Amino acid sequence: MKIFVAGASGVIGRLLLPQLVQAGHDVIGMTRKEEQRQAIEKTGAKAILADVFDREQIMKILDEVKPNVVIHQLTSLSQGSSSENACIRIEGTRNLVDAAKQAKVQKIIAQSISWAYEPGTTPATEETALDIHASMPRKTTINGVLSLEEAVKEIPTHVILRYGTLYGPATWYARNGDMAKKIMKKEIKATDGVSSFVHVEDAAHVAFMALDWPTGTYNIVDDEPAKGIDWLPVYAKVIGAPVPDTQSGANSWERGASNQKVKNKNGWTLQYPTWRTGFSTS
Ligand SMILES: NC(=O)c1ccc[n+]([C@@H]2O[C@H](COP(=O)([O-])OP(=O)(O)OC[C@H]3O[C@@H](n4cnc5c(N)ncnc54)[C@H](OP(=O)(O)O)[C@@H]3O)[C@@H](O)[C@H]2O)c1
Repeated sequence: MKIFVAGASGVIGRLLLPQLVQAGHDVIGMTRKEEQRQAIEKTGAKAILADVFDREQIMKILDEVKPNVVIHQLTSLSQGSSSENACIRIEGTRNLVDAAKQAKVQKIIAQSISWAYEPGTTPATEETALDIHASMPRKTTINGVLSLEEAVKEIPTHVILRYGTLYGPATWYARNGDMAKKIMKKEIKATDGVSSFVHVEDAAHVAFMALDWPTGTYNIVDDEPAKGIDWLPVYAKVIGAPVPDTQSGANSWERGASNQKVKNKNGWTLQYPTWRTGFSTS
């Protein structure tokens, strides 16, 4: 199949590209940066330089490429700005989806998140409502997620991957990543808030497997949603950081997410079923 990967140079895209190429697909990877071209081409994919905010350019490119599938792994998180990221989810996705529709793309696989659910005390399932009543600044993220998911659903076959918090090499939780640095400086407290993690290798592999999945929305998280008081001391120990301070309480939406749907329906097997063993790869 001809597969267009938007976000080919990102933390998931980089691991995904070789899997697609090795499976025999004709892969086109998009980046804005000339310096990423070589890394993309080294995997055996073709590189296309474009900015998703340049609507005309994206329309033209997809019309020429005419892929069978678009994989949307675009984020704008390098500067850690949730408003920039919401902007790419809203405007960037709009442009990409419109271009895909014009090029008669039949399938899209898109990256979303698993912590946009309404407050609750148990891990959220895909049936749980999104947190539409959130107040700012969380509302910025929720609006981005809603827009992205609604736009993606305009493509006949669409798979939405609601990823948990990514960890592993090159993520915020890598030893030189932003979270690791903060935890080294004891800037993060261990709370009762529940997170669901997913290793970046599992995150990339699932996007590859989703090529064969029917339309659906799936939580892509590991088997063990965990409170900060449980996972943070384990992670701090792994990276050689001081024991974190604790603080009771949590945001009401910090509930984690369940992966039962994807495991039951699509037979997904995790390479890293829990952060307990996965953190050591960071
Ligand atoms: N679920 C999660 O927890 C989650 C998910 C994603 C990322 N993250 C974190 O965010 C950090 C940064 O992520 P990242 O390394 O993937 O980088 P990023 O800066 O978020 O970029 C991701 C991808 O989007 C592309 N992109 C961004 N803006 C674009 C635009 N206007 N036009 C075209 N392409 C655009 C980038 O391409 P170019 O920059 O090459 O143009 C890159 O391929 C990671 O360390 C990771 O831990 C977390």
